[in-house]
Parts: sequence; structure tokens; C-alpha cells
Amino acid sequence: MDLLTLKTWSADDILSTVELGLAVKKNPQHYAGRLNGQTLAMLFQKTSTRTRMSFEVGMRQLGGQAVVLNWMETQFALADLRDEAQVLSRYADVIMARMLKHEDLLCLSAGSEVPVINGCCDRYHPCQALGDLMSILEVRGAFEGVHMVYVGMWNNMCNSLVVACTKAGVRITAVTPEVNEPSEDPELVAAARATGLFDQTCDLDVTDADFIYTDTWVDMEFLDNPEFATEKERRVQVLAPYQINGDLLKKTDAYVMHCLPAHKGYEVTDEVMASDRCIAVDQAENRLHIQKAVLMRMIAPESV
Ligand code: CP
Repeated sequence: MDLLTLKTWSADDILSTVELGLAVKKNPQHYAGRLNGQTLAMLFQKTSTRTRMSFEVGMRQLGGQAVVLNWMETQFALADLRDEAQVLSRYADVIMARMLKHEDLLCLSAGSEVPVINGCCDRYHPCQALGDLMSILEVRGAFEGVHMVYVGMWNNMCNSLVVACTKAGVRITAVTPEVNEPSEDPELVAAARATGLFDQTCDLDVTDADFIYTDTWVDMEFLDNPEFATEKERRVQVLAPYQINGDLLKKTDAYVMHCLPAHKGYEVTDEVMASDRCIAVDQAENRLHIQKAVLMRMIAPESV
């Protein structure tokens, strides 16, 4: 089983993985050694702090080893992607790849003989969404009746949250006046609508939100790119009224979520990020526990 989009994962796959993540967090020693002798290969086309650390530390804590490959230090950039993926899979038991384009992730997956995990591409960020469900369950104890309001740019994170939430039984409203073009996925939206748990609007109403989630308005790889400066400025103008700030939080008791890194002063203020209402650092920690759950499901499902 691959973890590329979450769209092919059933509700039971998602819920059991999230519950396993919580069990791992409560009793990490119980799972130590479960992946003895196993190897995770991690391929990065983009920078990362949380994904890199959570997978590498998680794999080591499970008794396995992790090998990190920086795209530019390999032959991937010079060779047929599918061929290189097949070769990589002969050395490793599972591959985690952070690719710029989802199409390239699919090509890598087609070449690989072992399971492939999407460590964030331009269309989806399934590992983060699984960890976020775990954070919600930790805070609320159940998914039933929970309402998440996602605010800002419709992007890869929004896609994965919409899938994860609607499959887990969490109501999600996307307050998204702008769509990041690569993340457009009408099939995903239609499936979410069919659950009755999803809505999309430009009206920023957080009064009945339990969690407010926001993310960067500009993809990381474009943040300081001078060629993207005009588009970045346009987005800042359009999205400024959707900033998560102190005035907005006065209208709700909701917790604030962010997958990080945050761009304080843009999608969220420094004050909100530093407040007790913000659980972003707990979300980041939960990446470690959920990654361990994902790795065990991928490599040794019979052991969990
Ligand atoms: N949230 C997240 O994926 O963080 P990194 O980009 O640091 O991996």
C-alpha cells in the first residue's frame, strides 16, 4: 500500500493509523524494535524540517535506519525517474519522497517495488493531515461533532485536510478565496461534498469552529523567488482580510492549527502563534508519532 494522496485510503485505514499514532505516543517503548533491520530511503527535492526529522527519528526509534538523499546529490536529476526509483527500491523497504510535482511522485511510485509515501508535493500533504487528525483527537477525544474551519489559500494542505477530515467524520469548511492552481482536484471536492461534511465559502465565519487551520499563502519554493514577487503581493492583498489574528480569535474559542513553517504577519500573527490557543508545536511533535504509525503500516502491517 502506498500513501500518495489519502484518497485511496478507507476511513478505517485512516482511523486505525491515527489511533496507532496515539498509542505510539503513549507508549513508545512498546513499539521500539518493530522495524529492526528495515531501511527507509528519503528523497528530497524540496527543503524540510518536520518531515525530515519526524521520519528519520521515527524510523530509528522503531529500530530501523533512514538514508536521506538530496535530489541534487543523486543521479535522479540526470536519469529516468522510474529507473532510478526501481533501483532505490532494491536498497530500501519503503521510500518517502518530497517531490515538487505530484506527477513525478506517481512516476516514482510506478517504478518502485516497495511502498512509497508522499512527504508533500504540490497537490497533497497526507502525512501532515494524518498527524493533524491525531492532534484533533488528542484535544477533543472524538471526531464526532468537530468542526474545522480552514482559512486562506486552497492548496496541497487544504486538499489533504478535506480528504482526511471528511473520511474521519470531521466537518470541514474551507474559507478559501483563492486556489493554488496545481492543487485543483474536482474529484476530491466532489467526494468531499458527497459526505455532507464539507463546505466552501469566502465568508470568514469562525463562530462555531472548534479548530481554525491556516497555512502559508505562497508555496515555500516560491517564497523568496523574485519571479513570483508580483503574484505574492497580489495574494497578500486578496488574503489579508483572512489573516488569523487577535480580533478574529475574540469571536471564537477555537484552537488554532498550522502545519508550519508559519509566516507571521501574513496568514497568522505572532500574537496568535504565541498564544495558548495555538497547538502548532503539538502538531509538529505529532508528526513523529504518526510517521511511526505510517511506517509500521507500510513495512510490517502484521506487527500492528
Ligand atoms: N509541515 C511540514 O511538512 O514541515 P516541513 O516542510 O518542515 O517538513
